[in-house]
Amino acid sequence: MTTAKHPRVFSGIQPTGGLHLGNLLGAVKGWVSQLDHTDTIICIVDLHALTVARDPTETRLNRLGLAAALIAAGVDPDRCILFMQSAVPEHAQLGWIMQCNASFGELSRMTQFKEKRERVDFISSGLFLYPALQAADILLYDTDEVPVGDDQRQHVELCRDLAIRFNNRYGRTFVVPRHVIAPVGARVMDLANPTNKMSKSLDGPGTIWLSDPVASIEKKFKRAVTDSLDSVTYDREGQPGVANLLDILSACTGTPPADLARSYDQYGALKLDCAAAVIELVEPIRQRSLSLLQDPAELDRILNTGANRAKEIASKVLARAQTHIGILERS
Ligand code: AMP
Ligand code: TRP
Repeated sequence: MTTAKHPRVFSGIQPTGGLHLGNLLGAVKGWVSQLDHTDTIICIVDLHALTVARDPTETRLNRLGLAAALIAAGVDPDRCILFMQSAVPEHAQLGWIMQCNASFGELSRMTQFKEKRERVDFISSGLFLYPALQAADILLYDTDEVPVGDDQRQHVELCRDLAIRFNNRYGRTFVVPRHVIAPVGARVMDLANPTNKMSKSLDGPGTIWLSDPVASIEKKFKRAVTDSLDSVTYDREGQPGVANLLDILSACTGTPPADLARSYDQYGALKLDCAAAVIELVEPIRQRSLSLLQDPAELDRILNTGANRAKEIASKVLARAQTHIGILERS
């Protein structure tokens, strides 16, 4: 699968529900398109998901459900490493070291923490430390590239800062990674509220789930919020709802959004085409996902194989970091 010259790509996704259209267009589609030219590692970050308390039964279902959805979307375990974060304890171990390497001030400035703390009753310290664990995830694999949606830009920049700081203090230890953000689809907005990004936590009529049946996707697009200007232009500020539909259609078809805008003069036609393009992309994934879930033992086997392969890489990088900070004797 890998040759030395292929860039090492690492990304993560939380098992806090299924996959939605934003995950697919902003992240997963990009991972899949590059599998043959990269050495890709995809991690289901179940430790990150613990930062907000959840019912254990739901957690169990979400972990396997996400593994099935990712494989169904093309994250082929024969062409990359797919594994569960908690199965590789090196993540928690390097996570602690990165927490000690990140300052209170820089973690306090993370916009995702500031947003999320407003939405939960119990602000766990894990929610605050989350980006340090994310940095550990990335650094454990000598990662070159981190393909993510736009909302993860700040976290990956922090990871770079932490890697550089560690290398300066303790000697060259980590590869300093860079984020890769898709030109279109990196910020899919909620269909019912197009000034908010589509997210697992909003989960209303404006979120398209990859598990949504065809009729439900059609209905959600039909009801997508637009405006009363009655003209189709690509203007994210002035016409956020219309621009979001154009972005989605563009991410599905490959035609630039401004070019698409010229071929429509009615919102209805744009919505219909958008729904059709999304259904064409999503429906086969839904079907494959359902069939993969029929065999949970096979999914477990795939994830175990992935964890063993991940551990082989992660244990060496962790030992390097531990040696450099003086908690592991040089062998
Ligand atoms: P999460 O579901 O928060 O674990 O995110 C998994 C990946 O999907 C990350 O790379 C996110 O940046 C990306 N992502 C999440 N929501 C969106 C969205 N609305 N638009 C584009 N990318 C997104
Ligand atoms: N914080 C990311 C998100 O919510 C998930 C994540 C955890 C991640 N570790 C990662 C993404 C490492 C990229 C690399 O989307």
